[in-house]
Amino acid sequence: MCAKAVALAARPEGMPKTSDFQIVEVESNDPTDGEIQVKNICMSVDPYMRGRMVDRKSYVPPFQIGEPLTGGAIGKVIKSAHPDFKEGDFVSSHWGWRDGFTARADGIERLGEIVAPASEYLGAIGMPGMTAYAGLLEVGALKDGETVFVSGAAGAVGSIVGQIAKLKNCHVIGSAGSEEKVDLLTKELGFDSAFNYNDGNLLSHLRELAPEGIDVYFDNVGAEHLEAALMCMRPFGRIPLCGAIATYNDTAPRPGPNNLSMAIGLGLTLRGFIVTHFNHMKDQFRKDMETWVTKGEIVTKETTYEGIESAGDAFIGLFTGANTGKMIVNL
Ligand SMILES: NC(=O)c1ccc[n+]([C@@H]2O[C@H](COP(=O)([O-])OP(=O)(O)OC[C@H]3O[C@@H](n4cnc5c(N)ncnc54)[C@H](OP(=O)(O)O)[C@@H]3O)[C@@H](O)[C@H]2O)c1
Repeated sequence: MCAKAVALAARPEGMPKTSDFQIVEVESNDPTDGEIQVKNICMSVDPYMRGRMVDRKSYVPPFQIGEPLTGGAIGKVIKSAHPDFKEGDFVSSHWGWRDGFTARADGIERLGEIVAPASEYLGAIGMPGMTAYAGLLEVGALKDGETVFVSGAAGAVGSIVGQIAKLKNCHVIGSAGSEEKVDLLTKELGFDSAFNYNDGNLLSHLRELAPEGIDVYFDNVGAEHLEAALMCMRPFGRIPLCGAIATYNDTAPRPGPNNLSMAIGLGLTLRGFIVTHFNHMKDQFRKDMETWVTKGEIVTKETTYEGIESAGDAFIGLFTGANTGKMIVNL
């Protein structure tokens, strides 16, 4: 049996193009000892994959041209040759970017009972939600009542960061790339204020919305956002460095923040992190997030593309702001 998968047709130069992606076939045979066969329901589309499209050493190896991409997916077991998995089990795996697969079950997570639609386990109750949770509470060492600024605020991670901060009684400011997203943040997601970073000067927006300064800046964007936030931090503020999406399509290195020395006098902590550094928090995270989502205390948003053929365009959409909340491809 074969499954359809997405592979790179070429390494993107700058902004990725539809023609950088191609559909290929992968084998998905009946499982043998220790394997399971899975039909994927939906797959995750994530900015970090851009780094793996470049042929350079990183914390994960680069994708190869013509080889199926991998990424997060939720699927259902259709055949099992593993004692811990049975037909019908929901599983979370890294065997996404294909509509099905047969693989050894090691490293594949059985989701058990799920309390929300499967796609939420790729979003708020999945990796982006966990990134927000660990990044804000552990790396950002958030305290009740502080002032939080989050960039990429209408995205998968940012929308959850802002809402967790509200649950912790913080004053929350978000930035996003359109008026519609700004409205969503303040009218639906409970942010205290938000601004469109494409409209005028970032720094003046921030100075106006955080006149007393920022305690935690959750950085999803890097570049000008990081520079502007550095100018507005309060003494001993924390900056979890989660991502730098503004730089992912750069074709040449750009200079770092030109005002990093602000961190010295203010005693700031800038700390990079990867969500997997916090795997020990996964059980507590799932318990907390399932509770918040089912009680409606955290509102989840997603943007859905249909079918494996749309995956390349969904990926490009991450860099044009096409998504609100989690970017998902339904399979
Ligand atoms: N450290 C970790 O373990 C970890 C884990 C997950 C994600 N991340 C990082 O967290 C960030 C957010 O990821 P996500 O999955 O939640 O993606 P996302 O925010 O759902 O999607 C990307 C969003 O980034 C914004 N964007 C794109 N280009 C931009 C630019 N040049 N300047 C400002 N904003 C831009 C767009 O929104 P607008 O319309 O607002 O521009 C777009 O919708 C990314 O940097 C990602 O790499 C890190």
